[in-house]
Amino acid sequence: MQPTDVTPVWFMRQAGRYLPEYRTLRQKHSLLELCHKPELAAQITLQPVERLGVDAAILFADILLPFEPLGLGLSFSAGEGPQITRPIREAGQVLDLPPVDPATDLAYVIEAARAAARALPPHVPLIGFAGAPFTLASYAIEGGATRTFALTKRFMYTEPRAWHELMQRFAELVGGYLAAQARAGARALQLFDSWVGCLSPADYATYVFPHSQRALELAGASGVPVIHFGTDTATLLVDFARAGGDVIGVDWRVPLDVAWERVGSSPARAIQGNLDPVALLAPRPELERQVREVLAHAGGRPGHIFNLGHGVLPETPVEALQAVVEWVHGG
Ligand code: CP3
Repeated sequence: MQPTDVTPVWFMRQAGRYLPEYRTLRQKHSLLELCHKPELAAQITLQPVERLGVDAAILFADILLPFEPLGLGLSFSAGEGPQITRPIREAGQVLDLPPVDPATDLAYVIEAARAAARALPPHVPLIGFAGAPFTLASYAIEGGATRTFALTKRFMYTEPRAWHELMQRFAELVGGYLAAQARAGARALQLFDSWVGCLSPADYATYVFPHSQRALELAGASGVPVIHFGTDTATLLVDFARAGGDVIGVDWRVPLDVAWERVGSSPARAIQGNLDPVALLAPRPELERQVREVLAHAGGRPGHIFNLGHGVLPETPVEALQAVVEWVHGG
């Protein structure tokens, strides 16, 4: 951990639909096309840096891209989010998944990382990312968005061996994928376990922990700091942090000082978070109050990275994000 002059700030989904310059590109290309073209992906990665003055750029890609070389079939439809055309519903399908080498099968993402890292000003690091084994498994099994995670949990409880096989496959895949992004110039890596909060602490320990730990170990071996992010993790935080990560990303459902206590200080960890993205839609005085509250809960401890508790919503005004950056930087 190194000292900084001001609290650093960046936003999850800072590249995306709330930005007019992104929407212009999106009129001409589908989301997958933008991801597949390294020059465009690199350009989009830089857009929020110029607009918002954030302290880091996150690579423009999607956590579900590895589903293409895995043969699961991936598409995005307007309003419905991701759709997986050949979801995993039976144990036998897990053993039939083809081997994936991220450096070649996802070469276009690595190329985008290289181009973005080269184009960014030296004081703005590039963050690479991947989905965590649980969040990937939930999409692979459900085939799209879900409220209950019923198919995922049923698979986990009914086919525990195939479940662990699948989680192992994802852990090795994303570990190698993150390391390849670091070699291409990413100076930090984030593992997104966006939906892990649907689990009980006991199920997290049994079905997820060892696999997140493996993915984080492989990512960490690349030598760059790793951010371990999840939502709704308040009751999981002790084990979630034990799984690894130099930085633990938390959402607004747990105050930062409480999170810090649960995460513990041995080893010393940084914490990332945790403004509610919906606060960006509030009147300016309420937004400012909430930003200052997050900073107060961080209490000037070393290792606070300001972020939202989850991604920027498409209806967010650009000026609200600009104001947050100013306040966090001491304005
Ligand atoms: O700025 C950035 O954060 C970088 C790019 C990024 C995208 N997806 C681009 C994207 C990142 C980091 C992601 C991660 C991602 N993708 C996650 C983990 C983070 C999270 O939000 O929990 C997840 C679960 C996904 C899967 C995914 N991709 C969903 C559920 C959706 C639909 C969401 C919606 O609001 O409709 C996507 C599509 C997607 N990925 C968009 C962007 C900018 C919006 C789609 C568009 O341009 O049409």
